[in-house]
Amino acid sequence: MSNGSSSGTRTDFISVPVELASRSYVVEIGANLLDQTGSRLRQLGLEGRVALITDENVDRHYGPQVTTSLARAGYESSCYPIPAGEASKALATVEQVCDSMARDGFDRSAIVLALGGGVVGDLAGFVAGVYYRGLKLVQLPTTVMAQVDSAVGGKTAVNLPAGKNLVGVFHQPTFVLADTVTLQTLGRREWNEGFAEVIKYGVIRSPELLVKLAQDPLPDLAGVVRECVQIKAGIVAADEHETSGLRALLNFGHTLGHAIEAVAGYGSFFHGEAIALGMRAAAYLSQRHTGLSPEEVAQLDALLRRFSLPRTLASGFKPEALLRHAFADKKFVSGRIRFVLTPRFGEAFVSEQVTSNDLLDAVSYLQAT
Ligand SMILES: NC(=O)c1ccc[n+]([C@@H]2O[C@H](COP(=O)([O-])OP(=O)(O)OC[C@H]3O[C@@H](n4cnc5c(N)ncnc54)[C@H](O)[C@@H]3O)[C@@H](O)[C@H]2O)c1
Ligand SMILES: [Zn+2]
Repeated sequence: MSNGSSSGTRTDFISVPVELASRSYVVEIGANLLDQTGSRLRQLGLEGRVALITDENVDRHYGPQVTTSLARAGYESSCYPIPAGEASKALATVEQVCDSMARDGFDRSAIVLALGGGVVGDLAGFVAGVYYRGLKLVQLPTTVMAQVDSAVGGKTAVNLPAGKNLVGVFHQPTFVLADTVTLQTLGRREWNEGFAEVIKYGVIRSPELLVKLAQDPLPDLAGVVRECVQIKAGIVAADEHETSGLRALLNFGHTLGHAIEAVAGYGSFFHGEAIALGMRAAAYLSQRHTGLSPEEVAQLDALLRRFSLPRTLASGFKPEALLRHAFADKKFVSGRIRFVLTPRFGEAFVSEQVTSNDLLDAVSYLQAT
């Protein structure tokens, strides 16, 4: 991490490197950075026409600002706004966007800019991964979720009717620019759900971050984003394609979280809300199996409350349905699941101690308290 200079027209920013040999890149984080999109692309030596992919909400807020910045730096650009929401993360949208780009004459020299939350980032990342067998990609994340998580690490995907994120490619961006001012226009629920992922980083790697998050109002938003990006960058650099198991730590709270999301029907819970419940269950199982202290369990509960995240699951949820989904996720090996536990905040690891009965108990815990 280094502090960017404030020379010339640049405002202060923080730069976090993601070390991936020839595919290394930096994530720049700070306030009012979007206006400098064009000039940063020039400084980085990126040449080509720009395909700006965004969603209709984000386009209204920030599309013109980015387009103007690109034009000032001499870039020709075309904007492709998709409807906001998870339903756009589909092969049909990939086809529409790629077809429009082809009609507009984009070839393999194009640069894709993804301006928006995780939906835009995943969709545009996938388009950049497959159009002409791969284009340069720049992520301009505008949600907490995207800035701390989805814009970094190179996972892209779209959904199938059969399930989420089933079609995708690894495609690392060339550059990520996270303007924290954009987070001010997020709805309250979108803001809060992003903090479920921030809490996740604290639980797996940084008890200090959890202490910072308890402060109200939150001090140093850019610093919080930086810490999450540093943690993710470190994990991704060590296990880019999720082969050693390290990257699986990022799934803390996600085994039951994903199951809850799917069983409730996508859209009922926001991703971060379902993850909040999954993290509470994972803390319960961490206490049982690895001795996570009751104080730490209470600390997690207090943070979920602070960000108005759900802590209990309605009794209507059938535990068996949740388990079936977790099984279908293929993380079970002979009755046991690869499940992220932590004996203390900051020391998470992938365990094979968790059984399906444990999961049933964890669901009862969410339904009883
Ligand atoms: N690739 C990865 O590693 C990874 C990691 C985590 C999540 N994801 C994916 O991310 C997606 C969720 O992302 P998300 O939570 O950002 O949702 P999202 O992209 O749907 O954004 C949420 C809502 O906020 C609006 N919005 C975005 N930025 C805004 C702003 N600055 N001001 C006002 N409104 C704004 C959007 O239009 C949308 O309606 C899921 O599809 C999930 O699978 C991917
Ligand atoms: Zn997540």
